[in-house]
Amino acid sequence: MTIIEELLQKKKLEKTPIWLMRQAGRYMNEYMAIKNSCGSFLDMCYTPEIASKITMQPIEKFDFDAAIIFSDILVIPNALGLKLKFIGGVGPELQTISSHKDLNNKLFYETLEPVYKAINIVRGNLEQNKSLIGFSGAPWTLLAYMLDGNSKQNFAKSLYFIKNNKSAAEDIISALVEYVSMHLIGQIEAGANVVQIFDSWAGLLVDLEPEIYEDFIIKPTKKIVAEVKAKFKHIPIIGFPRGSKFKYEEYAKQTGVDILSIDQDVDIKWAVEKLKSHVIIQGNLNPTYLLNRKDQIEREVNIIINTFGVGEFIFNLGHGVLPTTPVENVKFLVDEVRKYLS
Ligand code: CP3
Repeated sequence: MTIIEELLQKKKLEKTPIWLMRQAGRYMNEYMAIKNSCGSFLDMCYTPEIASKITMQPIEKFDFDAAIIFSDILVIPNALGLKLKFIGGVGPELQTISSHKDLNNKLFYETLEPVYKAINIVRGNLEQNKSLIGFSGAPWTLLAYMLDGNSKQNFAKSLYFIKNNKSAAEDIISALVEYVSMHLIGQIEAGANVVQIFDSWAGLLVDLEPEIYEDFIIKPTKKIVAEVKAKFKHIPIIGFPRGSKFKYEEYAKQTGVDILSIDQDVDIKWAVEKLKSHVIIQGNLNPTYLLNRKDQIEREVNIIINTFGVGEFIFNLGHGVLPTTPVENVKFLVDEVRKYLS
């Protein structure tokens, strides 16, 4: 059994498991060395030997309790025929659609096969007790990139579209529910022990009419969880509806996820009171704290661990590691978290 599976069964471990979103990436020299010798970011994702090697880098350097496969949430739209480019320093540029009819699934598995191969290689190299996390974007976040193409206008087109063409938007969401489920199942079959659903832009829907959050975040996620669990009953599922504020509670109660990743804006005492009885919590150190002095990191770790309970949650950040993060601070964080014993 891997560490995250063990946490789910026992609800309390001797130490608090730790891994970080974006634990592989530009803040590591080892990553930059590979990146500089490769073509594009997407080529790195689609070359199993490279993706598996990058996945292992932070495990070898920091001994995290879980590896997350090196890939991207936008491989699903790409596998549905949409052109995708990553422009250095700017971010993704995705071909846009206006209807579910613009999606073509003929090359779906063929495009994603390298991701499954990479997972298979990593699972073979990873210590038995470390968890390997597969992942996907959630339907709403994928829809937002598919309608806007990038995040430059804060997804204004997508917000207009879901309000004014709701049934067309729901058709795309329904299709995405199936593709996300298929990709998560594919990753589990290849060797992933845990899967995470990234809804990075969930926060954009929090303050709109309640049905919008319900129809675009809660219901699609609940269906995906049910589809994955129908095939793999015991696979832990992590949900991350970033920016969901007080709606994290509804998400925790209704979607069926086992673990809830929370961002740094969530008050941790509120999280203990409202979320802890429904899910295992994952989070939520502000990524900017890793740019701070060690004594500040130490203090913040103490507050988070003592609030959620040693060995009772998964230590993580509220969002991904920033590219300017000093490597020694990441090492310090891991050592600090492991000092606390239950
Ligand atoms: O966490 C990990 O270490 C696994 C790898 C991973 C990447 N992207 C690699 C990546 C994961 C889990 C993702 C998820 C992802 N991708 C999300 C959801 C999480 C989040 O951050 O909210 C989103 C929204 C994307 C889309 C995406 N990919 C954006 C907006 C960007 C540009 C921003 C940036 O940091 O450059 C990417 C590129 C990307 N994805 C990089 C990495 C390592 C940077 C590529 C590079 O220049 O080296």
